[in-house]
Amino acid sequence: MIRVLFVCLGNICRSPLAEGVFIQTIKNNKKSHLFHVDSAGTASYHIGKLPDIRSRQVAEENGFKLTHRARAFTANDFNNFDYIVVMDKQNRMDVESKRPKNNTTPVLMMRGNNTNNTLEVPDPYYGNYSDFVNVYQLLSSACDELLEYILSSNQNNV
Ligand code: 4NP
Repeated sequence: MIRVLFVCLGNICRSPLAEGVFIQTIKNNKKSHLFHVDSAGTASYHIGKLPDIRSRQVAEENGFKLTHRARAFTANDFNNFDYIVVMDKQNRMDVESKRPKNNTTPVLMMRGNNTNNTLEVPDPYYGNYSDFVNVYQLLSSACDELLEYILSSNQNNV
């Protein structure tokens, strides 16, 4: 089982949508049986909440539902996942600050994991619905690339 955790700040806008998009991506590629997928936030303001209504709406418009409940990222997630995928550089710093000693779990940027790792998925929380549509489009192509990257890195295990 390849365990992938998507992380943003609040775990109500970007990372639950990334989780949902990635679940669709692995379904479309007939790889669901290989994966465990989850999401978490570096901040704890929204623990227990469903995703933002705008993330749920953009998901439904694209044929899937988001039922994740927000939870906080913890140091233990480094032990429980094979890949941690963050939306922006601040998420990466916040996640890295919790890395246990000697842990080597890769922390990938959602947009681009080996060439240009400076691209971010912008926080849509204070924006409008079109910002969520933009996030969905970024996540859609990023998830295709992420799946390809993970499968090529796991050729011996899958
Ligand atoms: P997310 O968006 O990190 O994509 O879930 C945010 C959600 C809530 C807040 C900030 C960003 N907030 O400040 O409450």
